[in-house]
Amino acid sequence: MSLGVDVQHIAELRSVLATYPTVELMDGPTPLHPLLHLGADLGIDLWLKRDDLTSLGLGGDKPRKLEYELAQAIQAGADVIVTSGSAQSNHARLTSAAARKLGLDVVLVLGNDEHAQLQGNLLTVHLMGGEVVMVDTDDHWDLDEEVDVVCTRLRAEGRNPHVVPISGTTPHSCLGYVDGALELVDQFTARDVVPDVIFTPFGTGGIFSAYLLAMRSVGIGAEIVGISVNRPAEECEENLDHWWGTLSGLLGTDPELGRGRYTIEDVYVGPDYGVATTECLDAIVSMARREGILLDPVYSGKVFAGLLGHAAAGRFEQGSTVVMLHSGGIPALFAYHAEIEAHLEQGDRHRSTG
Ligand SMILES: Cc1ncc(COP(=O)(O)O)c(C=O)c1O
Repeated sequence: MSLGVDVQHIAELRSVLATYPTVELMDGPTPLHPLLHLGADLGIDLWLKRDDLTSLGLGGDKPRKLEYELAQAIQAGADVIVTSGSAQSNHARLTSAAARKLGLDVVLVLGNDEHAQLQGNLLTVHLMGGEVVMVDTDDHWDLDEEVDVVCTRLRAEGRNPHVVPISGTTPHSCLGYVDGALELVDQFTARDVVPDVIFTPFGTGGIFSAYLLAMRSVGIGAEIVGISVNRPAEECEENLDHWWGTLSGLLGTDPELGRGRYTIEDVYVGPDYGVATTECLDAIVSMARREGILLDPVYSGKVFAGLLGHAAAGRFEQGSTVVMLHSGGIPALFAYHAEIEAHLEQGDRHRSTG
């Protein structure tokens, strides 16, 4: 089977992307690696797109997004970037790194949650020395009021802040993942990979929406599976509608373009965002032990748990080609050492009694 991409549409999308300003934050392309051992275990052809290896501040998805979004900030004459997230926010780490690389100041408004130790991402945030405002809240997804207070103060001090919303998802930043999806399509072509299913995380839905739109725009019909890390599938659908609309506007693509086969799964969230479920910890352990690749307990571990869940439920045909986006997040592992230690000990007990 051939990939059947529409080369003309790829060129058109690339020429529209080139009309938007960017700043350089990473070297690309990130690798596309075959996972030979896990693929053999599962009876599929399994590939991992390594966006954990973007070359900024320990890697992850954000550099692709921020290359487009921070260009908007610079055009607006911003001298300080303000963003928000959880205590172990990967986005806070990578926004700090991006701001420092561009010679800008940064303020991080973070939820004071149970993983607020000076460890993992929060440690790196403090190392990069932006102002950190910790807020006691149950909902780090909505820190807009606190962000407003910070911006009012900064303006009163004569500064020009630029707010990047949680997860770095904005209409412009989604362009970075259209770019990232086209990079993956080039790798499919070069390596003769014809994907049947592509797995991505679904937080705000920026990555998922951009992947879906890019793949459909260039004629790739693979099922795209988004694994929610925080919200019910119906809310994810609303986010998809929103980002699909704003992206179509920026790219000039038909908003009625068929979305084809896609699935959004919310069963892998567990009790809440950031809770390392047993399936997630099992998935992290199997990726580490079978492939020597590290995943994290908040995003990529849940995506791989979703992929393993689909395999266990017989949802892949024998020999199908399955691709997973590894969006990074690995520094959070260190803040979850207690959960991981308990999980490993439990596994060892099972093994010694089994
Ligand atoms: C490692 C990682 N993957 C995925 C996401 C979620 O991406 P999106 O919000 O575009 O769905 C995040 C968000 O912070 C993240 O840190």
